[in-house]
Amino acid sequence: MVIALCGFMGCGKTTFGKLLADKMALEFCDTDEFIEKKQNKSIPYIFENFGESFFRELEYNALKELAQKDNLILSLGGGAIISDRNKKVLKRYCVVYINCPFEVCYQRIKNSDRPIVTQKSKEQLNKLYSSRLAHYEKVANITICDGDLDKMAEQVIAKAKELL
Ligand code: S3P
Repeated sequence: MVIALCGFMGCGKTTFGKLLADKMALEFCDTDEFIEKKQNKSIPYIFENFGESFFRELEYNALKELAQKDNLILSLGGGAIISDRNKKVLKRYCVVYINCPFEVCYQRIKNSDRPIVTQKSKEQLNKLYSSRLAHYEKVANITICDGDLDKMAEQVIAKAKELL
């Protein structure tokens, strides 16, 4: 079983993913951490020195490599579901979208060192959020709302059993 979590930065993919992996006794992996370990460089460093398009290449390669694995809960970067080639790779996964209001995401990310956040104003981030919603909704097999983590996990486990 391979479950991928998608949603905007700050929606809680990593926190929720770790809890879900625990409950389902599956391995947890975060695509950004995977890239950082492989490159031995931080995501901000990669963006700053090699640019976003290079990061997107690394992200695509990471998804392809991770798609070979089974029994995995994968937390995707917030922009990972936008490109068609990534969407193709994600067809192998049961994709869960964590729907979370922009303001909640923004409060969680506003002081972070995420390159997309440091480069954009709140208004620009809000536009980016709106432009991505349709992608998240389209790619997802399961949509849950940000809230009580245990309840979110119960919903995913029940629905994943039906689907997989
Ligand atoms: C990005 C989200 C980040 C990370 C990178 C780009 C995005 O991941 O992949 O900074 O384009 O939304 P998180 O969603 O885990 O913060």
